[in-house]
Amino acid sequence: VKALDPRGLVITRKRKKWKFAHFDVWPNCFELNRQDPKNLKNNLSNYFEEQKLGDKPLVLELAAGSAEFSLELARRHPDKNFVAIDIKSDRLYTSAKKAQEGDIKNIVFVRMNLIELGEVFVDNSVDEIWITFPDPHPKKRSAKHRLTNKSFLRQYRNILKAKGEIKFKTDNTDLFNWSLEQFVADNWQIHELSFDLHESDLPDDYKIKTAYERKFTAKGIVTKFVAASIN
Ligand SMILES: C[S@@+](CC[C@H](N)C(=O)[O-])C[C@H]1O[C@@H](n2cnc3c(N)ncnc32)[C@H](O)[C@@H]1O
Repeated sequence: VKALDPRGLVITRKRKKWKFAHFDVWPNCFELNRQDPKNLKNNLSNYFEEQKLGDKPLVLELAAGSAEFSLELARRHPDKNFVAIDIKSDRLYTSAKKAQEGDIKNIVFVRMNLIELGEVFVDNSVDEIWITFPDPHPKKRSAKHRLTNKSFLRQYRNILKAKGEIKFKTDNTDLFNWSLEQFVADNWQIHELSFDLHESDLPDDYKIKTAYERKFTAKGIVTKFVAASIN
């Protein structure tokens, strides 16, 4: 795909292909090659070095979708670096484009499966992890896919710095309650908790709406929020 000229794909009118092709060549977009995870690791640190943003606090948004949330955080916090991750690059495309148009350099967009997170981010390197409106996977046998299950929490624990935090928001009450149980069972400390984020006194940044959050709040479904740390 690297050799393709994305402009040539307009003729096919296949919007996804067009987005994939752009994603592949844009300087703020990256993809995990499972055979060579180190490559992505190096590319990310090279990118931030080149922008002279080398040693700033690192914030990840997982299951970022169209990543409007972390794009706005990046705009508000030029003192931090952001990585928006999703398995679907055509979703990330939207904010990757806006970041380039707005010259917002402290955010990159990564297409990868979150199962591989530990291959890309070294232990003790991440300051904050946002998990925003992940798929709820309500069936019991799908619990292995929930991003707050025990094995994902283990990955987050490894890559987070000692004072690092997970911030998690969702519309889904069952997933939220289940996730609280996972945090407690795995000895995470709960620092902030709200069963109605937008009516709470929690910081304004937390209330930046994701694309899914906009849809749910329009239907009157409230956002549940928790912040938890290892220590
Ligand atoms: C319900 S959407 C939420 C998107 C966004 N956070 C929002 O609130 O608008 C969940 C996202 O998780 C992504 N996703 C699900 N499982 C994933 C995985 N294992 N690795 C990476 N992304 C994943 C999907 O592609 C989808 O974009």
